[in-house]
Amino acid sequence: MAKMEVKTSLLDNMIGVGDMVLLEPLNEETFINNLKKRFDHSEIYTYIGSVVISVNPYRSLPIYSPEKVEEYRNRNFYELSPHIFALSDEAYRSLRDQDKDQCILITGESGAGKTEASKLVMSYVAAVCGKGAEVNQVKEQLLQSNPVLEAFGNAKTVRNDNSSRFGKYMDIEFDFKGDPLGGVISNYLLEKSRVVKQPRGERNFHVFYQLLSGASEELLNKLKLERDFSRYNYLSLDSAKVNGVDDAANFRTVRNAMQIVGFMDHEAESVLAVVAAVLKLGNIEFKPESRVNGLDESKIKDKNELKEICELTGIDQSVLERAFSFRTVEAKQEKVSTTLNVAQAYYARDALAKNLYSRLFSWLVNRINESIKAQTKVRKKVMGVLDIYGFEIFEDNSFEQFIINYCNEKLQQIFIELTLKEEQEEYIREDIEWTHIDYFNNAIICDLIENNTNGILAMLDEECLRPGTVTDETFLEKLNQVCATHQHFESRMSKCSRFLNDTSLPHSCFRIQHYAGKVLYQVEGFVDKNNDLLYRDLSQAMWKASHALIKSLFPEGNPAKINLKRPPTAGSQFKASVATLMKNLQTKNPNYIRCIKPNDKKAAHIFNEALVCHQIRYLGLLENVRVRRAGYAFRQAYEPCLERYKMLCKQTWPHWKGPARSGVEVLFNELEIPVEEYSFGRSKIFIRNPRTLFKLEDLRKQRLEDLATLIQKIYRGWKCRTHFLLMKKSQIVIAAWYRRYAQQKRYQQTKSSALVIQSYIRGWKARKILRELKHQKRCKEAVTTIAAYWHGTQVRREYRKFFRANAGKKIYEFTLQRIVQKYFLEMKSKMPSLSPIDKNWPSRPYLFLDSTHKELKRIFHLWRCKKYRDQFTDQQKLIYEEKLEASELFKDKKALYPSSVGQPFQGAYLEINKNPKYKKLKDAIEEKIIIAEVVNKINRANGKSTSRIFLLTNNNLLLADQKSGQIKSEVPLVDVTKVSMSSQNDGFFAVHLKEGSEAASKGDFLFSSDHLIEMATKLYRTTLSQTKQKLNIEISDEFLVQFRQDKVCVKFIQGNQKNGSVPTCKRKNNRLLEVAVP
Ligand SMILES: Nc1ncnc2c1ncn2[C@@H]1O[C@H](COP(=O)(O)OP(=O)(O)OP(=O)(O)O)[C@@H](O)[C@H]1O
Ligand SMILES: [Mg+2]
Repeated sequence: MAKMEVKTSLLDNMIGVGDMVLLEPLNEETFINNLKKRFDHSEIYTYIGSVVISVNPYRSLPIYSPEKVEEYRNRNFYELSPHIFALSDEAYRSLRDQDKDQCILITGESGAGKTEASKLVMSYVAAVCGKGAEVNQVKEQLLQSNPVLEAFGNAKTVRNDNSSRFGKYMDIEFDFKGDPLGGVISNYLLEKSRVVKQPRGERNFHVFYQLLSGASEELLNKLKLERDFSRYNYLSLDSAKVNGVDDAANFRTVRNAMQIVGFMDHEAESVLAVVAAVLKLGNIEFKPESRVNGLDESKIKDKNELKEICELTGIDQSVLERAFSFRTVEAKQEKVSTTLNVAQAYYARDALAKNLYSRLFSWLVNRINESIKAQTKVRKKVMGVLDIYGFEIFEDNSFEQFIINYCNEKLQQIFIELTLKEEQEEYIREDIEWTHIDYFNNAIICDLIENNTNGILAMLDEECLRPGTVTDETFLEKLNQVCATHQHFESRMSKCSRFLNDTSLPHSCFRIQHYAGKVLYQVEGFVDKNNDLLYRDLSQAMWKASHALIKSLFPEGNPAKINLKRPPTAGSQFKASVATLMKNLQTKNPNYIRCIKPNDKKAAHIFNEALVCHQIRYLGLLENVRVRRAGYAFRQAYEPCLERYKMLCKQTWPHWKGPARSGVEVLFNELEIPVEEYSFGRSKIFIRNPRTLFKLEDLRKQRLEDLATLIQKIYRGWKCRTHFLLMKKSQIVIAAWYRRYAQQKRYQQTKSSALVIQSYIRGWKARKILRELKHQKRCKEAVTTIAAYWHGTQVRREYRKFFRANAGKKIYEFTLQRIVQKYFLEMKSKMPSLSPIDKNWPSRPYLFLDSTHKELKRIFHLWRCKKYRDQFTDQQKLIYEEKLEASELFKDKKALYPSSVGQPFQGAYLEINKNPKYKKLKDAIEEKIIIAEVVNKINRANGKSTSRIFLLTNNNLLLADQKSGQIKSEVPLVDVTKVSMSSQNDGFFAVHLKEGSEAASKGDFLFSSDHLIEMATKLYRTTLSQTKQKLNIEISDEFLVQFRQDKVCVKFIQGNQKNGSVPTCKRKNNRLLEVAVP
């Protein structure tokens, strides 16, 4: 299990030495070995005093997490293992708490990790400084400026897949509380030659590839671009894709970052349009064309690309075309126009592309500055972060390398100056004698380059401005004359014969012994690059663009502002900006991060000692250590020193009462450290030799072990004794508790025995008293009873005459009355509804009211039925009377009855009055028609049926032909004696006639009808009202019918399903007619 460690010093659990100052012995080999050892253990940071050396791990290490940020936050520099966060924290706190402006100088060669380091510093500061919506926005804008600048200013090189091709210095501004307010970015010399040509295995700036891979089809169309890289001459194709880099995704990141930084959509689009124009410029090609006067002239091969560029930028095509074919030179009075040959045309095209791109880049930096600049005018504290190209030695070194290396010389110079100055200041502050330190001062090299009268840059400017033919060779000649004697300048042609035979030094080159090594510069291109010429015709053409951004990039193209003076040369511009930078840096407290590249393969875990050795040499790191420990290798404030080593001396251990300084004095005397090995400053002890410190550390380690044993011993003794004492104490407690318990138990036993005896005696006594008391009470009660009876008798005798003999009955009646009254009142409130079919009736409250309750229910029902009936009109009454009659006649007797209950009795189903067919029939009948309906008359001979109209009037029963309406039979009602029918669900009925009557001559009628119940009821009622006799209605499944002379039996049989659901009638024989009812 990993042990929790609390670090209090860099010296704890150190791998190798965390601070090179402590390296013993100090030489190149031990230095590199120490770096290697630490690198192998993933310790990529090492100190030289307050300088941080960072070795690029080429893999992501888990040392930048938010937890790490917290760990390093507000801790002293030497408290924890070396880390870039420790330096960032120190710088930030010094800025916030001591009001000292800071600068962080990050140096190292390409790919050593400068840009990453600068981002780490920025992110650390962003994490620890103030919070809040506004502050967070500022932070976010500052951090998001990086992806934008990297897209436009970084490119893949053979050394680094994300190499910065410009120098960057960023001032982050804070308020008095240490909250960020904004920032200012300065950029230095973008390597613009990359726009038109890239060395093998390298790429153009990232933005070109990002745009082509990441832009939507719509945007590409708008910018007139194609996605295919191979369409563009300016894009090197052999390394268009970089491993592990997603250009399309990065494009989105950049667009997003631009938005966060504050670019408007139209601005971002303008920028992309310029990028597109640059790409397309590369596709313009020229062909030679001879003119009559012998002058060479060039012509654009394919004008399509030119046309598209002009559309994109809003330039008149003819203007741009002319600018590619002519060059106008303006002197004071005259203007001379010369034609351009093919080579010159290509030169002009590339110069335009380079200028367009580098000006766009500067515009971007300015635009970002506008967004991120501090909004307030209050005094600001500043932290500058410098991420500048490192010292470069290539096979072919040109003007760019010269300029870059010059910048590094200046940085080295400021490093030496400031380090020494700081060291010296500390000695003075601490009142320690200053001893001279021998080191190489590179001021002499800086002078060789920048001296205003005979420096190399001044010579170059002079050549560029000189009239007459100026070439790179004339420049070299001049150098050879002027600088020949300089001890850091080497040239084959110089008068100094030293190099006459040096074959490693070609004729067209010069060599400078930089502080970091010798660099051979090819003189070719120096003059051109220093001049940085863009033909005026081109800048004027650009100024005429309607594209606002492009126009603003070429202000010198404005004919109204023609300036015949030459613009400052690239060299002098750079020199001036470096000088400003140096001045700026000198006012600030410097913090150094020196980046080292461990291998050329961009691979993790590989430590190429030769490569590292080279960097250590030119970074002057050993010298840095030497300077740092020229006087004293190690220094520490008295308090932490005493705290760390106090256990080494009896007088200071465990506590020292006096001041820390005298404690340290006592300690060092006691340890017999030679006096020359240390000095006492005002607040710090200075140790001359690392050996002494290591001896102290060893002693401390030894002593810690002894102390640990001692602590262990005492602890064990203490633990055992405590345990014993605890046991002893426990034993006494247990004994006491046990005794208490035993005693308590005995006492309780005695107590309960005493109680038992006591209770028995008390019981015996009490019972005795009780007996006596009871006897006395009984005597008293007897006396009282006797007295009461006696009194009662006397009182009754006296008051009998006043008693009411029938009071009980009255009370009884009254009570009964009350109950009944209450009953009725309750009934009143609980009455059910008036609907005759409502079955509800309140429950009975008293049993003795049972019969009353039932009677009341009956009366109420009758009453509400009456109420219900009273609502009927006469007509309704008639209907209900008829229905009632039907019910009395047929209910529970005839199975057909229930189905008739729901049918209203209509009587006249056939509307004889209205139907003209029956006019004759209507005319023949004068009486009121009660029934008019079609019935089936059953033929007496065969049981078949014929339809007849059945008419019932007040006095007669008539049968008429259904078709003609002719009356067939007429029977007075007095002759009807009986009606017979079955008990089943059929509509057959027989009408029996009086024997001997006229109508009876043919015999009785047998009918079947759908309205049997109604017809029978109406027949019954009519007969009763007319003849005052009740018509006999016989319900039987077998009855006799008189047919002429014969009596035929009509028999109803149930359950014969043969003929479906219709009853059928069949004559079986002379005496039997069978009706089958389903
Ligand atoms: N601390 C680090 N942890 C992990 N990887 C790192 C670290 N520092 C650098 N690298 C890796 O090394 C690569 C090169 O680093 P960086 O771009 O910072 O170099 P540089 O010094 O700025 O080079 P140049 O001068 O070309 O701009 C990074 O892309 C990254 O992959
Ligand atoms: Mg970089």
